[in-house]
Amino acid sequence: MVRKIGILTSGGDAPGMNAAIRSVTRVALANGIEVVGIRDGYRGLVNGIFEPLNKGDVSDMVDRGGTKLGSARLPEFKDDDVQEKAVKQLKDHGIDAVVVIGGDGSYRGAMALTKRGINCIGLPGTIDNDIPGTDFTIGFDTALHTCVENVDKLRDTSSSHHRCSVVEVMGNHCGDLAVWTAISCGAEIVITPETGYDELDILERLRYLDQAAKKNHAIVIISEKITDCESLARKISLNTGFSGRATVLGHIQRGGSPTPTDRVLAARMGEKAVDLLMQGIGGHCVGIIDNKIISMPINEALETPRRSRKEFYRLFDNLI
Ligand code: ADP
Ligand code: F6P
Repeated sequence: MVRKIGILTSGGDAPGMNAAIRSVTRVALANGIEVVGIRDGYRGLVNGIFEPLNKGDVSDMVDRGGTKLGSARLPEFKDDDVQEKAVKQLKDHGIDAVVVIGGDGSYRGAMALTKRGINCIGLPGTIDNDIPGTDFTIGFDTALHTCVENVDKLRDTSSSHHRCSVVEVMGNHCGDLAVWTAISCGAEIVITPETGYDELDILERLRYLDQAAKKNHAIVIISEKITDCESLARKISLNTGFSGRATVLGHIQRGGSPTPTDRVLAARMGEKAVDLLMQGIGGHCVGIIDNKIISMPINEALETPRRSRKEFYRLFDNLI
């Protein structure tokens, strides 16, 4: 029987993590389970930096971005002795199970703890939408709103000056933020790990938009880690009729008040995590597939290829 649950946030933060912490805490307390907040991800776990969470401790946070528990990266958590130290801390504090909110790296840590006898459940928290086992991650919708709001503003100014705005969005190695932003904003070109990068083709398409289609602006949405978008903007100025300008949205995408969609997703997933732990299940991750909250073993999720995104790229192509 689970009596005390620990909760931590790990990896890059995401809007909605606080809503998930609140949900896990309130649902657990409603079921007579104590809750302990673990500071700064696995780092706080290994060092025993714990704080009891009562109902009032998670008030006034459902609308707040970031994570009140703090997040961190601890590469040494892959090491056996570090994991053993974490298990000892949990046992010393009477914590029988842990909810880990983070990305796939954090899931691997949760799996390692489960193998060492502490049931853990992973909740997908990242703006990147790159976690297998779910259609959507907590934070993606909010980051998408931030991207769309900013690209809409850039469109206003770029159309006044016959410019091409090259906008770099995050996503790590996943193009979801980029292609969803591109569809939402009516961008002219989207470049992601899924589309590949063909500079000559991009310049050719922009020349067509300027000369043949007589567009007075163009928006290029590009995923991070593909190319230097300042340099791409310079090449656009040199090789097309548009004047190129680069904007890197950066960490702005990680902040801000979570959207209602992210808040509700976090609440539903938090409830599911507690439910699984009450059933004695560990080593699972929670997801939303076809709008149903589901869970599956973390190992299985990590081995499952991500669902194809082709339909979004086809739609984008049909819209331009
Ligand atoms: P994310 O969870 O967003 O994917 P990271 O990949 O940085 O972010 O992982 C977050 C943390 O999870 C790491 O700093 C480390 O503490 C832990 N972690 C990552 N990979 C493993 C692993 N293979 N085994 C144990 N812990 C891991
Ligand atoms: O995983 C979330 C994310 O914001 C990625 O989109 C990005 O590549 C990375 O984290 C940035 O990490 P950091 O916060 O360490 O700069």
